[in-house]
Amino acid sequence: MLSYRHGFHAGNHADVFKHLVLTLLVRSLLRKEKPFFYLDTHAAAGRYDLGSAIARKNREYKTGIGPLWEVKDAPEAILNYLGAARALNSDGKLRFYPGSPRIVRHYLRPGDRMALSELHPNEVKVLGEEFAGDKQVKIHHLDAYQALKALLPPSERRGLVLIDPAFELKDEWRRLLDAVKEAYRRWATGIFAVWYPIQDRATADDFLRRFKKSGIRKVLVAEFSILDPDETLRLNGSGMVIINPPWKLEEELRSLLPWLWEKLAVDGQGTWRVEWLVEE
Ligand SMILES: C[S@@+](CC[C@H](N)C(=O)[O-])C[C@H]1O[C@@H](n2cnc3c(N)ncnc32)[C@H](O)[C@@H]1O
Repeated sequence: MLSYRHGFHAGNHADVFKHLVLTLLVRSLLRKEKPFFYLDTHAAAGRYDLGSAIARKNREYKTGIGPLWEVKDAPEAILNYLGAARALNSDGKLRFYPGSPRIVRHYLRPGDRMALSELHPNEVKVLGEEFAGDKQVKIHHLDAYQALKALLPPSERRGLVLIDPAFELKDEWRRLLDAVKEAYRRWATGIFAVWYPIQDRATADDFLRRFKKSGIRKVLVAEFSILDPDETLRLNGSGMVIINPPWKLEEELRSLLPWLWEKLAVDGQGTWRVEWLVEE
């Protein structure tokens, strides 16, 4: 039984970090003319109303996209990320927040293709409504790990897979790593971006240790937290493991994450880092 609803967390610090990385990755794919394929294995609803009851429950966006919305002198990459949200809020007021599928759709060119899988029956229904009639978007009411097997490798030779689980189930970390290994075996040239929560440091470190031993090469890790790690009941921060990161991503993140941390860190807590888990 799936109970996670992303609407409670839409636009929070973890979304900002993840969607900034996602924007950088998608924009890197636009540098070449050849069409690309995007797979979002845990797509959720695609768009969130920050005025809805669930978003207002904890108002998580207030320590995420909220403080960024009015910033005038943001770096260009941050403006690009915010551009997908601005496209949903034509009156300039922050009300709708784009999920990962909406962010990528913002940048898709006519020849590019996007596949979304989502298991929750309500979320997949909302997702279907969000992209109704959109011929470049295919929605699959499917388990993420089956979607990886069914949809990879794609006919396009270039592309990106976002794997963004809800981490509701105890064995999610193990299933995730097994699935990444299998997906990489199917499509070793694709870019893979895997999101993970940093709630307690030991769990994240254990995952990274096992990832390092997976045999997968060219793996960059970026982390971003706004709270110190001693608070294990809250989401202090999050990380992304990026396989086959595009040229310059490391450099871009090293310049953007300190800026973002300055804007979002709570009383100087938290930190950021960008490191190679496994080099080429
Ligand atoms: C963290 S949310 C995804 C957020 C989205 N990627 C974004 O950035 O806007 C995780 C989603 O995964 C869905 N989910 C959980 N287990 C799944 C599975 N095994 N297969 C596919 N979707 C799953 C949940 O219903 C939830 O909507």
